[in-house]
Amino acid sequence: MIKKRVLSGMQPSGKLHIGNLVGALQNWVTLQEKYECYYFVADWHALTSQYADTLQIKEYTLDVLVNWLAAGIDPDKAVVFIQSHVPEHAELHLLLSMITPLGWLERVPSYKEKQEELKDVDLHTYGFLGYPLLQSADILIYKAHYVPVGIDQMPHLEITREISRRFNYLYGTVFPEPEGLLTEFPKVTGVDGRKMSKTYNNCIYLSDSPDEVEKKIKTMMTDPQRIKRTDSGNPELSPVFHLHKIFSTKEEQAEVAEGCRTAGIGCIDCKKILIKNLFNVLEPLWEKRNSYLKQTNLIEDIIQTGTKKAKMVASQTMKDVSNKIGLWKKKG
Ligand code: TRP
Repeated sequence: MIKKRVLSGMQPSGKLHIGNLVGALQNWVTLQEKYECYYFVADWHALTSQYADTLQIKEYTLDVLVNWLAAGIDPDKAVVFIQSHVPEHAELHLLLSMITPLGWLERVPSYKEKQEELKDVDLHTYGFLGYPLLQSADILIYKAHYVPVGIDQMPHLEITREISRRFNYLYGTVFPEPEGLLTEFPKVTGVDGRKMSKTYNNCIYLSDSPDEVEKKIKTMMTDPQRIKRTDSGNPELSPVFHLHKIFSTKEEQAEVAEGCRTAGIGCIDCKKILIKNLFNVLEPLWEKRNSYLKQTNLIEDIIQTGTKKAKMVASQTMKDVSNKIGLWKKKG
């Protein structure tokens, strides 16, 4: 049976955190058993907003790759590569830009939202407006069937489907209409109670040492109304409890929730249980991470092999696309 194709990417715009792990990565690992998966580091996407500050892009690219491998992305099962190593993405982006009405891009919600959010970066650029179109090119060039993403990315998938239809209508069918595989995972709460995000500086990073993780949890915010050990609390108001919901068993969740409401358990003990469970998840990852970090040659090899495989598909699609549009055929 021919496997359906899955594609997804992550931007190297910061270090990966536990939100990325439970929100996306663990799902990617499961998907590679059933689908032909393409996973890539979207370094050009990171440039659309971080064009003025590119110092850390290499470091973040390595961090992303190492964490993928450590979390269980298997290069024998999935094609792993870096976007900028497959310039066909840019070629398709250019051709798609010819048929993309500006209004389609201007009305993608992330366009205005990110401009508002990142006030200190000028995002009135051509590249940033084209962000969703570059993403469409990433997806369509592999004729992907499914794209696992979070809810914030769904509008980008919608525009990808629109572009696919428009291309097929104008020139003849080349592209399928990819479907989003919505990763149903609640936003992970950061140590300050807000959504875990590098912009808030409230993350538990996959690259944090065990000591750092322990310290971050120990100083993490709890129910602000529970001041003294003898005060009873409301677990629902505690970001610590939110992490319990992700990392602890149902029994432990019930136990700490009850203990919080009745002041039967102190915040320190509640946090200790969380730390234990978090370590259970992170310890195997740390071990593999450290081993990969000692073998950057191996990572280079993985990327090279992945790039070759990706290029084979991408260059074939570009031939189909150019032919359909009616460009002069290249010899060879
Ligand atoms: N925009 C995605 C994000 O920020 C990253 C991305 C780039 C992507 N190209 C993609 C995701 C193609 C899925 C498919 O998360």
